[in-house]
Amino acid sequence: MSGNSTIIRDSFSSKFGVIAAAAGSAVGLGNIWRFPLVACQNGGGAFLILYIGFVLIIGIPVLLSEFSIGRRAQLNAFGSFRAIAPKTKWSLVGLLGIIAAFTILAFYSTVAGWTLEYFTQAVSGKFANVSDMSKNFSDFSSHPYRPLIWQLLFMILTASVVFAGIKKGIEKLTKILMPILVILIIAVVVRSVSLPGASQGLHYLFVPDWSAVTFTTVLMALGQAAFSLSIGMGALITYGSYIQKDNHLLNTSIQVAMADTGIAILSSLMVIPAVFAFTSSGLSEFSPGPGLVFEVLPNVFKSMPGGGAFSIMFFFLLAVAALTSTISVLEVVVAFFKEELKMSRGKATIIASVAIAALGVLATLSFGLLKDITLFNFTIFEMLNYLSANVLLTFGALLIVIFVGWKMGKSQFYDEISNNGTIKSGIYKIIFFIIRYIAPVAIGIIAIAAFFVDGITG
Ligand code: TRP
Repeated sequence: MSGNSTIIRDSFSSKFGVIAAAAGSAVGLGNIWRFPLVACQNGGGAFLILYIGFVLIIGIPVLLSEFSIGRRAQLNAFGSFRAIAPKTKWSLVGLLGIIAAFTILAFYSTVAGWTLEYFTQAVSGKFANVSDMSKNFSDFSSHPYRPLIWQLLFMILTASVVFAGIKKGIEKLTKILMPILVILIIAVVVRSVSLPGASQGLHYLFVPDWSAVTFTTVLMALGQAAFSLSIGMGALITYGSYIQKDNHLLNTSIQVAMADTGIAILSSLMVIPAVFAFTSSGLSEFSPGPGLVFEVLPNVFKSMPGGGAFSIMFFFLLAVAALTSTISVLEVVVAFFKEELKMSRGKATIIASVAIAALGVLATLSFGLLKDITLFNFTIFEMLNYLSANVLLTFGALLIVIFVGWKMGKSQFYDEISNNGTIKSGIYKIIFFIIRYIAPVAIGIIAIAAFFVDGITG
């Protein structure tokens, strides 16, 4: 299928490598700064039940769809659609994914850069001397060049991993970083849940409050599940294309979804009790996003015994979570340049990173110098965030499930997920039914709602 089939394509070398890389993509800032507050503000345990339900019913089938497209075609997101449905317009869905990757990385790298600044602030013990954390954050984020330096450094880090390839770059790094991430989160969780007053936070998190559940809550749970699993923009199609032919794709999808959900819950156990232990006013005044991690938590660390060490761990793990996501986004664009425009990996990486960084610089500056440039009241950063999370990702996910359910079809899909009939399972039928009928309706509803209501997805 691929034009250069004589050249052996790079691939993941182990099952754990696939899971580490894909879970690394899924586990990102969304798990840490969004999930905990969104869960607590939308009915706690009730939200968790809805969320887990959506991950199982919708998330896993969509993950599996993306993996199966990529692995069948063994190509980048654009080329995969072209190979499976030649001479049709379906490859435009892949192109949409490439554009989504471009915009997501532009604004994600702004925030990823901030995590590095905060890591250095934590290391230097700066929080102890800051009296106003909001001012500390706005002074930094609106500074004319400091955030730019961190953003560019983060892009260089991302690019150097992608430059090294799948086995020697992405797989090697995520296999080391993902276990470290889990260990660090658990260390902070142990501290957080043992703080006096933590139990009130646990109560908010786990006790279901069904009276807080509205139609919007249900949409939030579904939207957060989609965003958190990194579906809809070709990252998992691209990673899928590097998965070996004997991998059990359904098991891999389940394991990735479990890892992502597990880490979202662990992040909540890390964030919520700590916030509760040190704030008297409850959670309603906070909104998910940068304020939580760059203003509220530094204050919490400042007042917490041993907070200095925990703040170092926290900002390190935040940077790790971001890096394992940014590499998967960059790889979408690099694989496209490499295979469709016939560039070497090195050249593709450099061109893609420079182009994305150029747009990213505008996103970063929109907190300072360019803050007055707005479109529909959105700054450049907000616009890129809205466009990628609320529009491109949701429509991408919708078109991907329609593609698998109605174009790629049952027999190709079964062939791919059963490794040409080697693995048999009764559940495939149910999954295909979901992909064909249920997922398009569910995702269609979020896609329309996310257009109008901000905050449903990212
Ligand atoms: N899942 C990531 C998070 O929780 C964000 C994200 C959404 C993403 N779509 C993506 C990351 C695609 C990589 C690729 O923060």
